[in-house]
Amino acid sequence: MTQTPYYFYDLDLLNETLSCLESNIKGTNFKVHYAVKANNNRDILETISKKGLGADCVSGGEIRWSLESGFSPSEIVFAGVGKTDEEILYALENEVGMIHCESLQEILVINELAERLNTYATIALRLNPNVNPLTHEKISTGLKENKFGLTSLEFEELIQLYPSLNNVRIVGLHFHIGSQIHDMSVYVELCDRINELVPLFEEHIGEFTYLNVGGGLGIDYFEPDENPIPEFKEYFEVFKEALTIDPSIPVHFELGRSIVGQCGSLHTKVLYVKRSEEKNFAVLDAGMTELLRPALYNAYHKIERLDNVTSGEELHYDIVGPICESSDCFGRDILLPELKRGDIITIRSCGAYAESMSLNYNGRDKVPSYVHSSSELVMREKC
Ligand code: LLP
Repeated sequence: MTQTPYYFYDLDLLNETLSCLESNIKGTNFKVHYAVKANNNRDILETISKKGLGADCVSGGEIRWSLESGFSPSEIVFAGVGKTDEEILYALENEVGMIHCESLQEILVINELAERLNTYATIALRLNPNVNPLTHEKISTGLKENKFGLTSLEFEELIQLYPSLNNVRIVGLHFHIGSQIHDMSVYVELCDRINELVPLFEEHIGEFTYLNVGGGLGIDYFEPDENPIPEFKEYFEVFKEALTIDPSIPVHFELGRSIVGQCGSLHTKVLYVKRSEEKNFAVLDAGMTELLRPALYNAYHKIERLDNVTSGEELHYDIVGPICESSDCFGRDILLPELKRGDIITIRSCGAYAESMSLNYNGRDKVPSYVHSSSELVMREKC
């Protein structure tokens, strides 16, 4: 039997998701960049780059992986609130398509480094639109209290300084309000803000040729089998309808979770089952080191026994990992067929922010991943 724990990726589902994404933006001037932070597994990156998506990177490492996986430099956007000088130089030397800037100081540094390389940087300003994404507070980014984006104060200062910056060209705006978003009205609100901000940009900065609206579309963690593909249609429809800017300007998206979230799962073994007066515990060989989301955000992931035969007795279990932290718990009072030592458990919807957030805490080694793919591609009806 294969050694557990391991991540398992279904590349058929990934390809199906990508085809659905593609069919929803066909005939528009929408361009999707995959947010590499969601999952940087090489097979996943190569599958996505082959489909012609761009990449959204937040470090020099992610830029390197993207280049090695076949993404073209001009289709890479480089974001992040704290880019180091080395990372900026690396991005400029590799001629990435766009740098998203989040502070005035960062823009000044980029200008200086571009001058040193005798080049210029094409940049977009990340503005904080102060839109509530109606999601978990730890994955909200578009509110005033969040650290992301230029503040209005800095935007005003930039307007004064811009004529003296000879090595940066500011061509547009970038936004990202948060992650795991289901309420589409939030994106309508974002579009309304964009519609107000673009004329301001044109008035004070110059020609507006680039818009990036970020990512954030949510997935169904509760029913991954019923809803393996996210609501791309509804999502893109919002931007088609609510943006009033010149329709010839390309609109860029940075989707991570919605592309890869459902194609992965974490397979892990029951090490021990123990009973107390109050409850049963199933102790697994995977823990928060392999899937941090439940410990960090109280996130729900569906938990199943791999051979989900329910004919026997069903019992409630707290499903916990081996790490020396009480927060190392994947779910409480989960109803499962009776578990015994050696049973394989599948934790679903682990394609995004599981492997890429894995840790070595407690002296644990990183675990392997396996991919499955067949050549057959089935398109679902809703696409
Ligand atoms: N663009 C920017 C600027 C971002 O910060 C992010 C995610 C994305 C795009 C992609 O967002 P997505 O489409 O995947 O929602 N670790 C958390 C999620 C953190 C998201 C960070 N930024 C989780 O496990 O829920």
